[in-house]
Amino acid sequence: MSDIVTKYTERAVQQEAEIAQLKQEILQLQNGEINDGNDSSSPELDKLRTENQKLKYRLAHLLRSIEEEEKQSTRITGTDTVMTDISQQLQGIFAFAIMSAFPDLANPTMAVEASKNDRFGDYQCNSAMAIAQQLRAVGRKISPNEIAQAIVKNMPSNKIIEKVEIAGPGFINVHIQRPFISAVISDILTKGVRPPKIDRKKKVVIDMSSPNIAKEMHVGHLRSTIIGESITRLLQFAGHDVQKVCHLGDWGTQFGMLIAHLQDRFPDYLTKSPPISDLQAFYKESKVRFDEDAEFKKRAYSLVVQLQAKEPDIHKAWQLICDISYRAFEDIYERLDIKDLIPRGESFYQDLMVETVQDLESRGFLELDEGRKIMFTDSSKVPLTIVKSDGGFTYDTSDMACIRYRVFVDKADWILYVVDAGQSVHLENIYAGGRIVGWYDPARVRVEHIKFGVVLGEDKKKFKTRSGDTVRLAELLDEGMRRSLDKLKEKERDKVLTAEELSAAQRSVAYGCIKYADLCHNRVNDYVFSFDKMLDDKGNTAVYLLYAYTRIKSIARLAKVDDAAVLQAAGSTPIDVIHAKEWKLAKCLSRFPEIVSRILNDLLMHTLCEYLYELTTTFTEFYDACYCVEKDRQTGVIVKVNMSRILLCEAAAAVMAKGFHILGLDPVNRM
Ligand code: ARG
Repeated sequence: MSDIVTKYTERAVQQEAEIAQLKQEILQLQNGEINDGNDSSSPELDKLRTENQKLKYRLAHLLRSIEEEEKQSTRITGTDTVMTDISQQLQGIFAFAIMSAFPDLANPTMAVEASKNDRFGDYQCNSAMAIAQQLRAVGRKISPNEIAQAIVKNMPSNKIIEKVEIAGPGFINVHIQRPFISAVISDILTKGVRPPKIDRKKKVVIDMSSPNIAKEMHVGHLRSTIIGESITRLLQFAGHDVQKVCHLGDWGTQFGMLIAHLQDRFPDYLTKSPPISDLQAFYKESKVRFDEDAEFKKRAYSLVVQLQAKEPDIHKAWQLICDISYRAFEDIYERLDIKDLIPRGESFYQDLMVETVQDLESRGFLELDEGRKIMFTDSSKVPLTIVKSDGGFTYDTSDMACIRYRVFVDKADWILYVVDAGQSVHLENIYAGGRIVGWYDPARVRVEHIKFGVVLGEDKKKFKTRSGDTVRLAELLDEGMRRSLDKLKEKERDKVLTAEELSAAQRSVAYGCIKYADLCHNRVNDYVFSFDKMLDDKGNTAVYLLYAYTRIKSIARLAKVDDAAVLQAAGSTPIDVIHAKEWKLAKCLSRFPEIVSRILNDLLMHTLCEYLYELTTTFTEFYDACYCVEKDRQTGVIVKVNMSRILLCEAAAAVMAKGFHILGLDPVNRM
């Protein structure tokens, strides 16, 4: 033991000397550059500059690793507010080891991941093979196995790794300290399921749902709503400040005909609220008149002009139509438990569009093209149409004004557009526009299109009703509710649950399965909407997970251990991770922060679904193999409660509940 300490002390001293040396060199180089003034490019100086860059990189890297080390020595499983991302910690440890073993490798490949199979340890570092190639490229022939040995020799002391072994052609198998994982589980129970550490709290604006006024909200908007909500919850969990914006299609020429029709049908609309229950039908009627009646058409056009001039009565009529329409959307949001969605439609940007156009024009970004004012970007051959030849604005104009607003007024440093993949060209063009005119620097403001595929029916064609109409969302949710109740009755749950429990379970399953079916696939792909599939109680479905959750929750109930007892036991009973299945479950639970970190990067929510499914099957393996509560066979009386295992069950339930919350699922305790 003591020579390990000596070894690391030596190592640390050596590292410190190296850092001091590097700092010195950087300083010298920096001074050299400054003294050098403007005549900048001699080959010698270029070489020094590259060298300088490399050194800076290495220094930063080493420092970060060392910081990481320091943190590790002062805490075990994270602070009260964050959880340790084990994979991240291991990355730090291996980065340090690799940098120390191969100081002149500028950008070594980092490959650390959880092992898929127990035989290869708990985690693996597979960098050696890639490093061998990188070294070969600069004429150094070292075998991956020797590289792995050098890495292992240079690993800093830490509290996570119990031992490592080198396997095959240089895989480094990492075995994690069992007490470390055990402490992670206790922490989950005493401090809650917490997120991994984020670099910096960000102001996020998420553009989600965004249906169009006077039109039915369709399944594409449903996807945007479900995905946007889940991403919001994830970001909020991680500690970001998220503002949800519903970018309504509430402006445009169709409002002329809607208002004209309103004036005829409900002439006293200024004093009485018109009873339009079916705005869709109202829209169709007005469209028929618009197409057939030249007089009506003329009036509709003049109303558009009056609306844009904010003529009060006309504005009021427009407002009424928007309100009626939005109320129907709100019903859907309420059913899906979507809160704090700010309606901020295209109309909101009306005045800002004028300002935006002036900004673009005065700085010479607009070109004249057959009476239109257009702007080319580096994203598409198709230009943005900023002003039409009749002087009107377009979808491009409102989105340019919108991104400008989000950057300058909302002061967002992360802007997400949860919009179908079909609008990709348009959105990328807008982002490029914003970049080119200098509204934002992509290095500081992350702007991205969270694209998703179309919803297909079971016939793999665009999702439609039998008669070929678009499916009404309210009816779709109704059908989900009906089918969910049928399913519960089929399982005779109505015989065991109270009326309230049954109705809570019905809602949980109905909305849960619709959301989960959407989220469990890679959003980029199209997905097939099938009630039969989503209500299946086997496989990766909401029903399967929700049932598993109730079963896990029932274990503590069966053992007569309540929440207070769990909390108390968690503080005093160490969690055993001795049995292979206990160990597997505990490790799976400890990977939650790592999963969250990954999704914070790519915002692909299906990773969370897959994780929860894996957690559930891992739990089942554990429960099949490990007694938690033992009963007397004859009398049924509880003879033994394994508290450590009850705690594992409760930790699993806690992680699942957090995962459900992020996905927008509302689990029940009995189902
Ligand atoms: N209302 C649009 C539609 O239904 C979606 C708006 C998306 N957001 C945006 N900023 N363009 O297709």
